[in-house]
This record gives sequence, structure tokens and C-alpha cells, in this order.
Amino acid sequence: MSTAPAPGQIVAGALAPHPPHLVYAENPPQNEPRAECGWEVLRWGYERLRADLQKKQIDVIIVHSPHWKTTQGTHVLALPQFQGLSVDPIFPHLFRYQYDLRVDVELAHAIVAEGRAAGLELQPMENPKFRVDYGSIISCHMTRPTWDLPIVAISSNRAHFDFGNEVGEQLQVRLGEATRRAVERTGRRALLLASNSLSHRHFTVEPALPEDMTHEHIYHHGQYLWDMRMINHLRAGRSRQALAEMPDFIDGAISECKDGSLTWLLSALGFPAYPAELYGYGTVIGTGNAIMGWDPARAEAR
Ligand SMILES: [Fe+2]
Repeated sequence: MSTAPAPGQIVAGALAPHPPHLVYAENPPQNEPRAECGWEVLRWGYERLRADLQKKQIDVIIVHSPHWKTTQGTHVLALPQFQGLSVDPIFPHLFRYQYDLRVDVELAHAIVAEGRAAGLELQPMENPKFRVDYGSIISCHMTRPTWDLPIVAISSNRAHFDFGNEVGEQLQVRLGEATRRAVERTGRRALLLASNSLSHRHFTVEPALPEDMTHEHIYHHGQYLWDMRMINHLRAGRSRQALAEMPDFIDGAISECKDGSLTWLLSALGFPAYPAELYGYGTVIGTGNAIMGWDPARAEAR
């Protein structure tokens, strides 16, 4: 059923992890390397997420990425267009991607203003030669490969690393609230993406053929148990419990949640008490990746 949400709200949120392997295996024209196959369960999960999002009227995508790491507060893309070549520094043989993206500059400045009003340190990124991080690009590509919508990209500051998980979590909760206020104030219908994996221990030796799936499996049973615990919380609508356990999850599973993307998303969504949709779970070089969606309209209809 098609829905026409009122302006000024978050119309959907998604956990949209960014292993470059997924874009590599999709063989889009923007990416130079070619693959035979690979990581299909995750890619089919993204396909189902995209199908659900096609039913939504969306004005803009806001993405929070672990791979735009800033040390002086949080930065936000704030020029109308960025283009260039994005190369994954760890996997340059898998990801060399020509990007050309538009930014919703008004919304970007609204997020900066709302964050500053809440006492957070934020800066607009206005360097036209700035190289957009591959985490933002991959999550946006896998969620919306047509690039027909403007985006706003938000950096991950280093608070978890510099001051501890609890401090980092508190800042991301406030950043999520500020993001929601900016969406409401500017009248946008926004899709929010948290661009992180869950557990993040990984193999350090790659097979001769990267997409040889006989080598792909969970790295460590303990981190698998952690992933299932967090996924079950989110599928049951226990996002506040997930938040409460997040500092321990980050340490126990060496989780990429340490960059704050998922906590930012859950906060912006108002800590959903309704179930998240699980579109897919799978490993990439042994890391745990879940594709999950939150649909506030579906929750209201319950
Ligand atoms: Fe990553």
C-alpha cells in the first residue's frame, strides 16, 4: 500500500552496513572492479529493504557513517554537490567507485544549528574538494542505487574512543534528537541510515578469490551470540534495552557500534518500542552484518 506521510518527519530508519564487498558483488557501473557473485543473502536483504522503501515518499537520506571520523566534534556535508573517486583503503581491489551526489544543504545547516543549540560541537563541511567517505557512499548505494535523492552525511566523532563508551553514547543520543528536530523544522520526509556492522572481529587473510563463499563464516561464536542478542532486542521493540547494553556490546563484540551510528538512529527514531524488520543477516570477512528497518507508520497501524 502506498503511503503519503506528512512533511517534517522521519518516515523510515535502517541499519545499513557498508562492507565494500556488497557493492563489489553488485557490479554497478560506478565501481571499477568486477565480481562473479558473493554475499547474496545480505544483498537480497538490501533488495527487500529497497522494495519496502519504494512504497515511501522520501525527500532526503541522512546517513551517519563510522568511516568519516572527526576529532573536533561532528561534521556535516554542507555543499550542494560532491563528486570524485572513492577508494577503500583496505580493499582497493574491491572498491574504486566514482561518486556524484547531491546534498540537502538547508537540512545540513538545520542539523548543525539544532546540535549547537543542544550544546554539541558541530561544523558544516564546506570544502568542495572533500572526499566523501566510503561508508556513507556504500550505505546510500545499497539502499538507493539510483542516487535520485539528496543526502546529508554526518561524521562520527571520536568520543567513544577518546572519553569512553558512556560519554560517546550520551552525545549520540543528543545528536539523534537534534537530527529529528531539524527534520521536523525543515519539513523534510527523511530516511535515516546507520552505516555500521554489528560484531566486527574479522579475518586478516583474504582468499585468492575474494567472493569465494566457502571461506565466509562467522569469526567467533561469542560475537555471534552478541549479535543475536542485539538483533532479538531490536526485533522485539526493545531498543531501550539495546541502548542500555550497547557499551558492553561494543566491548564484547568489538562492535562498529562504537562509532555511534546505531545509537544516533535509535535516538532519532525516539527509541522504537515497535519491532524492527530484519531483512538479512550475514558475515563479511567474518564480521556480523544485519540489515534492519524501522517503519513508524507500520507501528502506528498496530
Ligand atoms: Fe566499516
